[in-house]
Amino acid sequence: MSEILAIYPGSFDPLTNGHLDLIERGAQIFDQLVVAVLTNLDKQPLFTSQERVEMLQVVTTAIKNVSVDTFDGLLVEYAQSKKAKAILRGIRAFSDYEYELQMALVNRQLAPQVETVFLMPAEIYSYLSSRLVKEIFQYGGSVKDMVPHVVEERLRQKLSNPVAGG
Ligand code: PNS
Repeated sequence: MSEILAIYPGSFDPLTNGHLDLIERGAQIFDQLVVAVLTNLDKQPLFTSQERVEMLQVVTTAIKNVSVDTFDGLLVEYAQSKKAKAILRGIRAFSDYEYELQMALVNRQLAPQVETVFLMPAEIYSYLSSRLVKEIFQYGGSVKDMVPHVVEERLRQKLSNPVAGG
């Protein structure tokens, strides 16, 4: 049987424990999981794509079937270029559903052979988002239990040296 490769796409600005939870779950289901960082974000990112990739590499280094990459443009075109059978996305709460459904159906319209698979992170992460992590950190709150250690460190560095992302 051929190997099943899945893409886990996102902005990851920055990676949270919820993302990591989903990566670990995805790695148990798929033969290969490529975490794909979108480089051309609409909004100005806090971290450059290289920084986002580096943090993901640090936290996934022990998971042998996970790799980290970047992509630009249409997700399904990237997925097809990797011969991916699936796109992995996380659904935390009901409020995620509409946006995720829309994205999955648009992607299916564009590339019917690439299936979107939804997984739920552990419920302790169901409230977590990159946006909230940035906000909490910027106002001096602790994000210790919300992000991997490397992200916390990079956030601290970023606050003392806020070079624009990209
Ligand atoms: O972590 P995010 O920001 O929710 O991830 C969104 C992402 C990167 C998966 C989505 O914006 C995306 O796939 N962008 C690439 C452009 C694209 O393919 N758009 C059409 C699908 S809606």
